[in-house]
Amino acid sequence: MLSINDITPFQKTLIQWYDSHKRDLPWRETHNPYIIWVSEIILQQTQVVQGLDYFYRFITQFPSVSALANANIDTVLKYWQGLGYYSRAHNMHNAAKEIMAKHHGNFPTEYTAVRALKGIGDYTAAAICSFAYNQPYATVDGNVYRFLARYFGISTPIDSTNGKKEFAALAQQLLNLTHSGLHNQAMIEFGALQCVPRSPDCNNCPFKESCKAFAEDLVEILPVKEKRTKIRDRFFFYICIDDNGYTYLKKRSNDEIWKGLFEFPTIETPKRPMLENILKSEAFSEIVGKNYSIINQLPEIKHVLSHQHIYACGIHIRTNEQTDALHSCQRIRIADIHQFAVSRLTGKFLEKLGW
Ligand code: ADE
Repeated sequence: MLSINDITPFQKTLIQWYDSHKRDLPWRETHNPYIIWVSEIILQQTQVVQGLDYFYRFITQFPSVSALANANIDTVLKYWQGLGYYSRAHNMHNAAKEIMAKHHGNFPTEYTAVRALKGIGDYTAAAICSFAYNQPYATVDGNVYRFLARYFGISTPIDSTNGKKEFAALAQQLLNLTHSGLHNQAMIEFGALQCVPRSPDCNNCPFKESCKAFAEDLVEILPVKEKRTKIRDRFFFYICIDDNGYTYLKKRSNDEIWKGLFEFPTIETPKRPMLENILKSEAFSEIVGKNYSIINQLPEIKHVLSHQHIYACGIHIRTNEQTDALHSCQRIRIADIHQFAVSRLTGKFLEKLGW
């Protein structure tokens, strides 16, 4: 147990709160930087409760940097399936290879070398270096921004350049330099459990006497965000073929959403498509040809991503014509479809199809 004589009142209150409220989480029981890295990237995508399953599955399948580096990207994506933001999985795979090539398979221990790895930003580098090596780098994630903005009554937008600098400097100033890892975990946990986004229980908060937002009734207003994300609408039409128990999937290769994941042959249109227009279109006959029968229509599903709203519908058809377009797809047994990494949206269509 750490001695609390040589720490500031803020640090002391924080650690006392953490000691009695912290959750037992598997990545807190290790100093292995690889395991901590995996947990932090997963936690950037999902809440702790949902993240646990992904975490265990991922580290069981890829227990070390070398296991991840040597894996096929399709397998890595399959283990990431459902978490979204698949560039994170690509980046981890690339970073693991980089560690093998540049660091002889040993996870780097210097902050700058950690920060230089693909997909590792300031937050993740600080998390790895403080949790694994107890190095004095403050972690500032959404939980910490919220706590600091409220405690100090700061209205600088947390997503502005100035805000990022201001909060980073403040977090660094507050850091307990002897127990950086513990302090950082406690800051994150405090934001996650006590200083929650909506209706925090301020009357039962150990910081209520000194919290500026509580004193000035700003708790629901802080933190402030500057930018409203611009949302783009997209319209996808999926062609789900049944060719005597076989179907066709295509790997998304362009450098945008769902790169590396499989999906049905897709027609994207600038506006919500009308079925009869799709059926008459050149794009449709290039994929399907002329000899097909419709089994049923697949009604629209709205799928919300951080910067895009996707409206997807489709058609379930029977055909045994192999067009040129289908030659560039993978022909697979419908019974094997769950072996392929697909987006959550495609997963919803698989459910509708009963596949
Ligand atoms: N969210 C991000 N990192 C976390 C951690 N290490 N523990 C709990 N929640 C987190």
